Amino acid sequence: MSEPTASAPVRPAAVLILAAGEGKRMRSATPKVLHTLCGRTMLGHVVAAARELAPERLVVVVGHGREQVSAMLAETDAAALPVVQEVQHGTGHAVRIAMEAIAAQGAIDGTVLVTYGDTPLLTAATLDALVTVHQETGNAVTVLTANVPDPTGYGRIVRRDGAVERIVEQRDASPQQAAIREVNSGVYAFDAKLLAQGLSRLTTANAQGEEYLTDVLGILAGDGHRVGALTVADHHEILGANDRAQLAQLRRIFNARLTGHWMREGVTIVDPDTTWIDVQVALEPDVVLLPNTQLCGATRIAVGAEVGPNCTLTDTVVGSGARVTNATTEGAVIGEAATVGPYTYLRPGTRLGRKAKAGGFVEMKNAQVGDGSKVPHLSYVGDATIGEGCNIGAGTITANFDGVRKHHTRIGDHVFVGTDTVLIAPVQVADGAFVAAGSAITQCVPAGSLAVARGRQRNVEGWVERTRPDTKAARAAQAAQEAHAAAQSAEAGEPAQREADDA
Ligand code: UD1
Ligand code: CA
Repeated sequence: MSEPTASAPVRPAAVLILAAGEGKRMRSATPKVLHTLCGRTMLGHVVAAARELAPERLVVVVGHGREQVSAMLAETDAAALPVVQEVQHGTGHAVRIAMEAIAAQGAIDGTVLVTYGDTPLLTAATLDALVTVHQETGNAVTVLTANVPDPTGYGRIVRRDGAVERIVEQRDASPQQAAIREVNSGVYAFDAKLLAQGLSRLTTANAQGEEYLTDVLGILAGDGHRVGALTVADHHEILGANDRAQLAQLRRIFNARLTGHWMREGVTIVDPDTTWIDVQVALEPDVVLLPNTQLCGATRIAVGAEVGPNCTLTDTVVGSGARVTNATTEGAVIGEAATVGPYTYLRPGTRLGRKAKAGGFVEMKNAQVGDGSKVPHLSYVGDATIGEGCNIGAGTITANFDGVRKHHTRIGDHVFVGTDTVLIAPVQVADGAFVAAGSAITQCVPAGSLAVARGRQRNVEGWVERTRPDTKAARAAQAAQEAHAAAQSAEAGEPAQREADDA
């Protein structure tokens, strides 16, 4: 017996993504396929999976909200071709328009993969498996199916002697057909030529008066062509989002995939249910994520860093061994072994050096903090450069905005800034300088000098008793003065008493 020759699958001639529907049940000004989960739009996930198959053409059928959808496509996948379906006459009509647009650019031959813009859980691996099975069997069309607990709303797969005979939509199904639990995912691999032939014979004789893409399978089967099916192992993959409750369900499933992936890669996730990770995030082994943490955008966390609880990190780079707690950061770079939080807000352009610290109730923006420098409490550091080994006291503020323009504050190495200091920019504090607590610094402080910039203290003695007699404050002051006087006279009297006793 000869082994079957396993020919490597050929890349699809085209992937068509249908995304023209309105998605009424989202009740949204945003087109359905632009709603997001895990850091990407639904359509973005579908396009990303499709791209992994390296199709010769990637076509997206747009209709409702086409300006927004096309703009998103242009931004994320400039090579994708949007094709407009003015009126939504059904999935068959949408594919016909897409095939016509492709044909206008030249003959098409090979495999055409069709999928929908609102099924973001489908993986590239599954799409690839469908194309492979399709090409290996030489089917006219191969449909991706799933066995689901509740088939309501889906097209049912009607088989005869095991082979797919046709797909019947929910609204057109007989009670026996409605009981079938094998359903149409809406993903198909077609032979391009047979697809075009089938599309040209579609009618609108159905409950919705639409051209059903699903009818192409019945037409081809009726002509004696082979119609096959591939059933997904995990039926969750085919789930679509028609409303926001379903979108939340998909988001949770997708997130569980991502947290599962990162845990297998060596990341500790204490509470996967409250940890949300975007698709572009990159984590290294022995990262620890504590509960209620969101990692968004292109956030990267290096080996051994601990983040959480209660953190939202967006486009942030965290160095190895750093510790970030109860913080919101965006566009920040946190150095190796640095510490951030709690209740800390790091805004774009913040760069913390090695072992640097941005402590409790500290906000930073466009600020470079050198290695080992600490801003431990209640400070605002904006448009500033801080050198190495500095200590910036509690309540220090860089006054960077004069109402019109932003100005820079430059602090050298090993500078000590006392608490409650305002650094009024533009200003510079040079290496090794000290600033006295409570100063308002408006001029540059030379290296190694002490700057004191505050009113001198003056005590007006007896002021309370004169101006606030018979108050609790006055009585407390009087009692304190009497006690002080008594203590002094006792000190003075003691030796005199001893002398008298001796006499
Ligand atoms: C479709 C399938 C059904 C399958 C289900 C899986 C048909 C006739 N039925 O039903 O068998 O079980 O998907 O989710 O195909 N679209 C367009 N233009 C149109 C109509 C639809 O672009 O004119 C797009 C929609 O935006 C959507 C997708 O095609 O992304 C599916 O359309 P939808 O109306 O949701 O089809 P279903 O009724 O869910
Ligand atoms: Ca649908």
